[in-house]
Amino acid sequence: MRVRRCKVLYLESREEVTFDLDDLLAGGTGARRVRSWIALAPHLGAEHVVDALAREVIGGLSPEQWSEPADLPDEWQPKLKELIDRGLVLADQAGPDDPFRARDEALRRSHWHPLSALAHGLTRWNGVDAVEAMQSTGTETADKLRDVLGPPPPERAIRDDLVSKVALQRSALNGFDDLLRRRATCRNFDRSRALPLASLTQVLERVFAAQAVVSVTPDTVFLKKNCPSGGGLHPVDAFVVVRDVTGLDPGIYYYDPIEHALGRLPDPAMPLEKLMCEAVAGQTWFADAHVLAIMAPRYARNFWKYRQHAKAYRAVLLEAGHLSQTLYLSATEAGLAAYVTCAINETCLDEALGLDPMNEGVLAVCGFGWRGGTMDTMELDPLGTVWQP
Ligand SMILES: Cc1cc2nc3c(=O)[nH]c(=O)nc-3n(C[C@H](O)[C@H](O)[C@H](O)COP(=O)(O)O)c2cc1C
Repeated sequence: MRVRRCKVLYLESREEVTFDLDDLLAGGTGARRVRSWIALAPHLGAEHVVDALAREVIGGLSPEQWSEPADLPDEWQPKLKELIDRGLVLADQAGPDDPFRARDEALRRSHWHPLSALAHGLTRWNGVDAVEAMQSTGTETADKLRDVLGPPPPERAIRDDLVSKVALQRSALNGFDDLLRRRATCRNFDRSRALPLASLTQVLERVFAAQAVVSVTPDTVFLKKNCPSGGGLHPVDAFVVVRDVTGLDPGIYYYDPIEHALGRLPDPAMPLEKLMCEAVAGQTWFADAHVLAIMAPRYARNFWKYRQHAKAYRAVLLEAGHLSQTLYLSATEAGLAAYVTCAINETCLDEALGLDPMNEGVLAVCGFGWRGGTMDTMELDPLGTVWQP
């Protein structure tokens, strides 16, 4: 067996403060401060506390060249097994089924910028309930947020260095303004009626379809879509969860942007309703949409051009934003309502969709359908454009 360090690893020096009654009673501040070193490795998706010897071993091993343990210092030997078990050190005899080895190899092949890989790998959620988190912190409404957190930073930039200010004339409104003003995040779907298939197909075509296919060579093909995309690579795929659409079985589909077709995926292990609720971190008002459009980039497509590029991940995030706004507007234009959320448990979705999280993986979830007749969950409509037409 030979060993090497995992490909990407950062060490964070962290101080955690906990309440200590004994310290308080003894006349102290009551705050117990514990400092530790945390190993952050994107392929693990979890943090690991590491002691001094572990740090020495990790820092002493090459991430590229394999070493024979017998050639390593004697004092490292007891630590090696522990670090291998935790996935921070990889053994060459671990087979392709070893999850740590497989994820480390995937990362090596992927051209992620290491800092972006870290942010991506360690901000994934599994089993998070965002609603419960808001309730337990008493931050469900704007009033409560203000009470708990104090006032936010101002709603616009305050500049005291302006040399002059030009008042701009308001433009005459037209139909496009009406459309923009009718866009409001929907948290109340009307599930008493199904969504017509034509509405689903129109939204998908406008947002995700290729409007043209440009073949540079047979193996190098670019798509033209309605949304901009960094490098024109369009890495963001759409998976469509059909909850209630006329003529389509509920289930999870892959949307083929060239053929404008939906390919059905095997049913997930969990019932669809439960999976969707888990996916949107307990936000039942979103899980309830007639259709959910899951945005899942294939990072390798972007990183083919932008290798270890400091801005590549940012470009993919921005692209998802363009897609979601186009989805909001397309749905609104069709008389429907929409939302986007990144408060998602991507782990369960990646599993259900069969995605390898480091090379491809769910980034955000949109939904659309008929808006309900009553606002049971809050929507932001101060102009009364949506709720009091
Ligand atoms: C990236 C992003 C993530 C969002 N995530 C959530 C979410 O998790 N839950 C939610 O209720 N709304 C979410 N929203 C919707 C915002 O709350 C909403 O856009 C905002 O309150 C303004 O309202 P409007 O979209 O109706 O103008 C999200 C919006 C964006 C752009």
